[in-house]
Amino acid sequence: MIWAVAQANVALVKYWGRAPGPGHQPAGTSVSLTLDGLASAARVEERPAGGESRAAWAPPGPVTDLTRFVEGARAELGIARPLDVLVTSNFPVAAGLASSASAYAALTTALAALAAEPLPAGRLAALARHGSGSACRSMFGGFVQWRPGEDSGAVTQLAGPEHWPLAVLVAVTGTGPKRVPSREGMHRTRATSPFFDAWLTAGEADLAAVRKAVRSRDLPALGTAAERNALRMHATALGADPPLLYWEPATVAVIREVWRLREDGVPAYFTIDAGPQVKVLCEPADRQRVERALGGVPGVSHVLRSRPGGAPCVLATPPAWAAPALLDGSPADERT
Ligand code: PMV
Repeated sequence: MIWAVAQANVALVKYWGRAPGPGHQPAGTSVSLTLDGLASAARVEERPAGGESRAAWAPPGPVTDLTRFVEGARAELGIARPLDVLVTSNFPVAAGLASSASAYAALTTALAALAAEPLPAGRLAALARHGSGSACRSMFGGFVQWRPGEDSGAVTQLAGPEHWPLAVLVAVTGTGPKRVPSREGMHRTRATSPFFDAWLTAGEADLAAVRKAVRSRDLPALGTAAERNALRMHATALGADPPLLYWEPATVAVIREVWRLREDGVPAYFTIDAGPQVKVLCEPADRQRVERALGGVPGVSHVLRSRPGGAPCVLATPPAWAAPALLDGSPADERT
């Protein structure tokens, strides 16, 4: 039996749109930061030969593609026996917090440990991408870039987590109505938003700005580019038909609070993925002040603390937070 754990990531330059054709290729290049403490764990166990693999979330959750992913990965990794798989997360799933990224990265890491031959990190990232695009970035720690391409250099680490000890706060604005899954949202945006091509073109300048800011550890430059990129992604999605609005009233209130903090001289910057939660970047010295301010915004249920996190790893035992789900549960056939 193998356990592995991986962490979520927040996109600083967003992946929003696939390239046409097969292979889950992104239309543009994205950059993310792996988030310490927002984790998923996977348990993988070989079953007697014959039959299909069984895969489930524990407790039951968004199971749709898990079994298909496991069967595809078995073929790619040369794992002969069918598998029993359980995945669990320590934060809300399907709420715009990238739980699918950490889940598929944890699962890929656990499956790789059973593989006939070891695979380089770039190949494993390409595999994780088939579960959820952003999962390929969670295969590395720190600042990670994903550019279009099938080669093993498509996903690379720009800088490790120790390079820049930023504080990241996640303002959770309640669960709200169920969002449109990002896969469907980006497909609809590409197919119907008149702004889509402009979004891709503008993203190139954001990419250059973010890469430079990471290198020089320049928070105002990073934050300005990341905020702009997030707002343009959401503007493009709003232009889809029917429109995609991922925000709640509290999402807007947090944006205004971040801008107010900046007017008061606190360098804090937000970004928002495909959900109502707002992620805020600031200096560690300002963390408490920013956390208090975000926690005081009406509609914010709580604030999660994070910072740059590391790569996935294989564990001898499940992490304490995941132990109840991963030790007791077993995937039931009807859940696969
Ligand atoms: O990995 P997916 O298919 O869940 O898409 C992720 C989309 C965003 O989170 C909105 C942006 C990103 O780059 O992570």
